[in-house]
Amino acid sequence: MKKLMAANWKMFKTRDEAVTTARKLVELVSGKLPDDREVLVFPPSTCLHGVAEVFESAEGFSAGGQNFYPASEGAFTGELSPEMLKDSGAKYGLTGHSERRHILRETDDFVGDKTTFGLKKGLRIVLCVGETLDERKGNKVEEALERQMRQGLKDVPTETAPEDISIAYEPVWAIGTGEVAGPKEIEEAHAFVRKTLISYFGEKASDIRILYGGSVKPANCGEIIALDNVDGVLVGGASLDGESFSEIVLAD
Ligand code: 13P
Repeated sequence: MKKLMAANWKMFKTRDEAVTTARKLVELVSGKLPDDREVLVFPPSTCLHGVAEVFESAEGFSAGGQNFYPASEGAFTGELSPEMLKDSGAKYGLTGHSERRHILRETDDFVGDKTTFGLKKGLRIVLCVGETLDERKGNKVEEALERQMRQGLKDVPTETAPEDISIAYEPVWAIGTGEVAGPKEIEEAHAFVRKTLISYFGEKASDIRILYGGSVKPANCGEIIALDNVDGVLVGGASLDGESFSEIVLAD
């Protein structure tokens, strides 16, 4: 299983800035990327095509869409379909990110609709789950993760190939706060995610990647990716700079 080193650029960067960062990243990482690692960038949709073009000739790099609507076309003002993302060069789609759950009010159920539809249309999906600070304080971490996974995977066919679906564990209180979950917290949550995946997909769940996200930096990435059941990272702030993200991608 290749570790998935993923960047979420959120609502940052013009097209020029995105292409410049993508080129820099390829320049810094090419030739050094271990065989067991894969690089993925989720740029804003306006930059997707440009970034995907830069990655076309770069072995081990791909681009993904941060958001899509679960329909192929129609009267859905402001939305994009999985087919449109693929047409712009996306290989992956992101679902369930905490900012979309909490700021854009996406429900667990809707996240499930998007996950299933995106997979059906040929996008590899990274489904994000994670508890809020209140849920952690109230000892409800597993309850929150179980609910988000049950709803998020509700109609996903069990025959889905393991490389087509990944789970990103992103505790809401660790996103953009500089506060990283500790090794014990990460291992406990990832073990629970693995157990839940096994109950859903059976044996092949051991080949489904579970990423950690939340204040990952060059200085802490090596320690995080060495933890049990951590098969990659999903990085926000520290991925915006090509140099910083290249250090994360190559961290050991
Ligand atoms: P930060 O790395 O900025 O905490 O963001 C994490 C995240 O939300 C990635 O999707």
